[in-house]
Amino acid sequence: MGSRILSSPAFFKSIILVLFCSLYWTNPEVEAAKHSGITRHYKFNIKLQNVTRLCQTKSIVTVNGKFPGPRIIAREGDRLLIKVVNQVQNNITLHWHGIRQLRSGWADGPAYITQCPIQTGQSYVYNYTITGQRGTLFWHAHISWLRATLYGPIVILPKKRVPYPFPQPFKEVLIIFGEWWKADTETVINQAMQTGSAPNVSDAYTINGLPGPLYNCSAKDTFKLKVKAGKTYLLRLINAALNDELFFSIANHTLTVVEADAVYVKPFKTQTVLITPGQTTNVLLKTKSKTPNATFLIAARPYVSGPAAFDNSTTTGLLEYEKTSVTSNNNKKLPLLKPVLPKLNDTSFSFKYNQKIRSLANSKFPANVPQTVDKNFFFTVGLGTTSCLTNQNCPGPNNTRLVASINNVSFVQPNIALLQAHFLKRSKGVFTTDFPTNPPFKFNYTGTPPNNTLVSNGTKVAALPFNATVELVLQDTSIIGAESHPLHLHGFNFFVVGMGFGNFDPKQDPTKYNLFDPAERNTIGVPSGGWVALRFRADNPGVWFMHCHLEVHTSWGLKMAWVVLDGKKANQKLLPPPSDLPKC
Ligand code: C2O
Repeated sequence: MGSRILSSPAFFKSIILVLFCSLYWTNPEVEAAKHSGITRHYKFNIKLQNVTRLCQTKSIVTVNGKFPGPRIIAREGDRLLIKVVNQVQNNITLHWHGIRQLRSGWADGPAYITQCPIQTGQSYVYNYTITGQRGTLFWHAHISWLRATLYGPIVILPKKRVPYPFPQPFKEVLIIFGEWWKADTETVINQAMQTGSAPNVSDAYTINGLPGPLYNCSAKDTFKLKVKAGKTYLLRLINAALNDELFFSIANHTLTVVEADAVYVKPFKTQTVLITPGQTTNVLLKTKSKTPNATFLIAARPYVSGPAAFDNSTTTGLLEYEKTSVTSNNNKKLPLLKPVLPKLNDTSFSFKYNQKIRSLANSKFPANVPQTVDKNFFFTVGLGTTSCLTNQNCPGPNNTRLVASINNVSFVQPNIALLQAHFLKRSKGVFTTDFPTNPPFKFNYTGTPPNNTLVSNGTKVAALPFNATVELVLQDTSIIGAESHPLHLHGFNFFVVGMGFGNFDPKQDPTKYNLFDPAERNTIGVPSGGWVALRFRADNPGVWFMHCHLEVHTSWGLKMAWVVLDGKKANQKLLPPPSDLPKC
């Protein structure tokens, strides 16, 4: 009976009619609006893996045995369920760097800020929806220095049938920069924290985990980008290095920057991209119209703005054109052309480059810059000192330990997650809400440092009412030495409304703000010996970490958190914690 109905001509006619109608009536706009996203599942097993680099094999912490880690790919509007299973001895958390996490702060990941770590043998499902974002981001461990090997890309495609606001590329390529230590990085940072000295620098930079031919034994570990002539490639650049901002360039090729931190920008051309740890940048690479008789070096090396020791090496890869029938008969070795990178301390390049990054600020991609400000903050960011433990010899000036602070507060990590304490209204003994709005004492921030450079310690947060508009000026200091600090804010994008050298002038500088098309980002380099002014709207309830994305400075205390209170409406409140939230 049933089979007869299914095979009847009338049934087929109606199926065809339905198909025809749905094809006929779907138009992209309606589809995009209807498309509320799908759920994508990932399983991340945290496990040890032997990896050989620079003639040396070591056991590193990885996701699923991969280094760099697996990429996450999703579309705007999709929900992600990422089950993380900890099969190593270390405590683990993962952070989805740059994801807004609207009301889902429990999935943000910084250890002891939004969650307790996932302990050995335990698991946790990170559950969040990607709302209003598309572009390149990345995920990384957010506990101690484990992100040295635990990191990978996040690619967020636009909703179905929504094009990029730039020519559709022929191909897309992920390029993730990292740093490689021969030593165990947990030992490196633990020893530094014990002695109060600066931790050892890395032995190599890497492109997609590969150092390239300028390092010992690494010729076979070289990233190769094979391209066709006359095509446009979208390179998704990610700086997952721990402690170094990087200049990136490809010999004889101009790059067009089209996106930064998963926000489209007004396209601009450049020979060199500057990318701080925590930043991502999408660039278009237009290949030569005819296959050239050369190979082109791809190179990245540090931008060094401060006094600290650094890894003075260069990671390289190769841009190779596919041989066509015309060129393939010459099998001789092609000449290798090298890019010219800015000098290591080129702060003026850094400043000019950052000023070129502008929001599209059009009707499709508006820049919703807060035009008025409810809450003003002025934070000094920089290094400092703290007294030596008794019977210790310390490396800092006047026998002190090196630390770092915001408004002279060096952040002390709590033993339970701030978000839990906040949600359960049990902040007593965990944190206080008296984070200083201004520096505790005024001095010439970028001039001769004061005699007393001792910092205070505390777990202090700044509280914000829901939807408050915030202006935050970050002022570098010259204590120990001026230095560019890539400040990263969780839970929000901010607008970079102004920047300058020297001390911020609260009378003059705001008159020059760009409130029209400023860059919208999640990480910005505070200019070395200068300041940057940011604005954002506190429309995401929760506890949000803010810190220097140079891992050494985070370890030293250059970090704080914002507590954004719930709004009145039901959809303005932090959701309750998931049942599998790890316990401390
Ligand atoms: Cu990419 Cu709090 O970090």
